[in-house]
Amino acid sequence: IEKFEMLYEGKAKKIFKYNDEEVIIYFKDDVTAFNGIKKDSISGKGKINKKITTFFFELVEKEGIPTQFVKDLDENSFIAKKVEIIPLEVIVRNYTAGSFCKRYGVEKGIKLENPIVEFSLKDDSLGDPMICENVILSLNLVEKDVLEKLKEYALKINEILSKFLTEKNIILVDYKLEFGKYNDKILLADEISPDTCRFWDKDTMDSLDKDVYREEKGDLIDKYTEFLRRIDI
Ligand code: C5P
Repeated sequence: IEKFEMLYEGKAKKIFKYNDEEVIIYFKDDVTAFNGIKKDSISGKGKINKKITTFFFELVEKEGIPTQFVKDLDENSFIAKKVEIIPLEVIVRNYTAGSFCKRYGVEKGIKLENPIVEFSLKDDSLGDPMICENVILSLNLVEKDVLEKLKEYALKINEILSKFLTEKNIILVDYKLEFGKYNDKILLADEISPDTCRFWDKDTMDSLDKDVYREEKGDLIDKYTEFLRRIDI
């Protein structure tokens, strides 16, 4: 990987130039929480998340969601279309958890009447503040048709993943998506992994995701490996 030019380094991934149209997304072993306040390196995490992301990107692509995934490269990386990342985090919630509970003072683990789509502004220095659709449009962060597409894709992905995980006796509690622009098309970008989703065992409600690290309630690699085993990939 060292022979490629690094374009960007994030908290959990590095992006390298592959050619003019494509990049290499490399999954690091680094793990962070609370906007980078808590951080560690956990050997083996990168390759697990890369494997899960590849699997989910291929799964949603098959169901008609365009993604940036092109092809596998090695254990920790895949080749992806070089997109211009839209500066919004698209969060979908099926059950109450995390910041939603804090914000609205509700108990964790309540099934929501309908899935909720929320947006956050992607800006670490501001702590990724929640942003409403009016503000997104007023600030011209994206156009109206793009905003509608983000919601449509986020909810379609919710159906695809929820259906798949229900069969594995896993609840898809919530997750975060990022999208990018590529030649005027909107593509699913970044990752879908236990770092960016909450997955609960349906019987025990135990976490199989980064909450294990955030809340120090077990070994991250054990839980991520358990998730891999359960989804059978
Ligand atoms: O923290 P919060 O409860 O809002 O997170 C909702 C979901 O989005 C969780 O699955 C979390 O892992 C994910 N998320 C993320 N990156 C962020 C914020 C949230 O992956 N910056």
